[in-house]
Amino acid sequence: MSKSLFRTKNIDKILRDAETMQSDPHGGGGGGLKRVLTLKDLTFFGIAAIIGAGSFSSLGEACFRGGPGVVFLFIICAVACGFTAMCYAEFASRIPVAGSAYTYAYASFGELFAWVIGWALIMEYSIGNIYVAFSWSDYFTSFTSRIGLHIPDYLTCSYREAHGAVIESAGQAANTLTNSTKELLNAWNNSPQIGGLRIIFDLPALVINVLITMLVYVGVKESRNFSNVMVILKLCVVALVIGVGAYYVNPANWTPANDIGVHSFMPNGFSGVMTAVSGVFFAYIGFDAISVMAEESKNPQRDLPRSMILSLVICTVVYILLTLVLTGVVNYKNFKDVGDPLAKIFEDTHVTWMQFLVSLAAVIAMTSVLLVFQMGQPRIWMCMSRDGLLPPIFEKIHPKFQTPSFSTIITGLFVGIPIIFTDKTFVLDFTSIATLFAFVLVCGGVLLIPRKEKVAGKFNMPYVNAKFIFPGLIAVAIAILLYNNPHYYSDLFIINADNASLNVSTIILWLALIVLSVVAFIKSWSLIPLLGLSTCLYLLTGMTGRNWLWFGSWLVLGIIIYFLYGYRKSRLAGELGVIVDVVGHNVG
Ligand code: ALA
Repeated sequence: MSKSLFRTKNIDKILRDAETMQSDPHGGGGGGLKRVLTLKDLTFFGIAAIIGAGSFSSLGEACFRGGPGVVFLFIICAVACGFTAMCYAEFASRIPVAGSAYTYAYASFGELFAWVIGWALIMEYSIGNIYVAFSWSDYFTSFTSRIGLHIPDYLTCSYREAHGAVIESAGQAANTLTNSTKELLNAWNNSPQIGGLRIIFDLPALVINVLITMLVYVGVKESRNFSNVMVILKLCVVALVIGVGAYYVNPANWTPANDIGVHSFMPNGFSGVMTAVSGVFFAYIGFDAISVMAEESKNPQRDLPRSMILSLVICTVVYILLTLVLTGVVNYKNFKDVGDPLAKIFEDTHVTWMQFLVSLAAVIAMTSVLLVFQMGQPRIWMCMSRDGLLPPIFEKIHPKFQTPSFSTIITGLFVGIPIIFTDKTFVLDFTSIATLFAFVLVCGGVLLIPRKEKVAGKFNMPYVNAKFIFPGLIAVAIAILLYNNPHYYSDLFIINADNASLNVSTIILWLALIVLSVVAFIKSWSLIPLLGLSTCLYLLTGMTGRNWLWFGSWLVLGIIIYFLYGYRKSRLAGELGVIVDVVGHNVG
């Protein structure tokens, strides 16, 4: 039993299966996916997926928490994502098929982990898209109101948000309520009712989901052209925000006074900067989506790695410049509760035409994020179905459009239905925790697959022997922490309701780092994936206990479904019935 749970799929077999699909997909009828995407297209896909709700929306809160010094956090997250991108790139160059982290886990950790990753990726792609659809709706309604078209409040927010506002504001004086709470109360009070049930839902979020699903259903080529145009527009407007904003920068804002009057680039210290970690990390999610386009890429082994790293570098530069401009134009404290920080700097400087342009650009930016994620999810399900872990209909390719048609429709429903029942905050945490979880397994997976000879023309991840470097780094980190606070480790064991999740996850982190150091020493592991693994594990410690509870429940549900269906129907189990070793080779 335990061996079959960890049965791994041989890399050559994964490639053979994908090739067979290209010419004659199982049961799909109509050939495989079209190979139409170039390096430029893939890089644009990356940028399309990365720059969205994170930069247009949550950047404001990040600036408020960390001040101008939040640029350091962007650099730290970029480094963490950069290491992870190298691991994705390494896998993508070896296994250029569509399943992304799911397929990589199948080749390294085995079937159960592959299923778990595929299950977790639903959160990154589908649940993440719910968040982006909600944010899209916020900017869309702000754009329509700027052009004089007002959509009723009860059609622009979620039921949960409106209901939550009613409960929270009970007993509060009207003049103490924020504008956003007033709008939610307005939505609640003016909503029509059917049988006592208030009709409140986010109509623009639902409509954009239907439109994107239709576009993705029709075909990747059409989607590519649409996506490329949106990325160019988005980058132009972001460049304009940086250019025009730079004109209004007051350098004194870069060393603002904090609450006790001390001037600093990091007014709330480094700990203040670190509290912005989830928002900043969310801004980077998306580069990994490129890897699901492997089977539609003309030269996946060369172009997937390059495009991932290229898009990450471009977005990092954009984020650093944006943060410097934002915190240079307006004092960081003014970003409290600001959901549209890019528009805010032009409100404060009275540049009306830029406010209009920014709202438009935000709508465009988020449309492209929606598009890329909505394309990613069906392709992962297609791979899982190809392996027998999901019913065969999920791998069905549309004979005319050559897209995974059934999976695309199910994705549309997966994003659309929860839009009616959930809200933004509820889905955001899921997305971050699941994505980090997937990143951890991808970095870990690279350590498990056998090292390969360098091949000219392919991506070759540089091998730096971590034998001494990694344990050395961990030892230095421990020494620095103890030098700064001799009670650092003993304090971790003083657990109360407020710090339980942080302390427990920090203890687990340190235990994991020590174990990794020992194994890295024994096995001479490669440094880059180890650094990727460690930095992602570190970012995971920022997740709350509530996040872990929901995520854990989701995983348990996934594992139950695996045993009810995938474990028995797995093609690997059917085909092999072979001796499997757990390191990465089927022997049979
Ligand atoms: N990075 C993507 C965004 O910010 C998910 O919307």
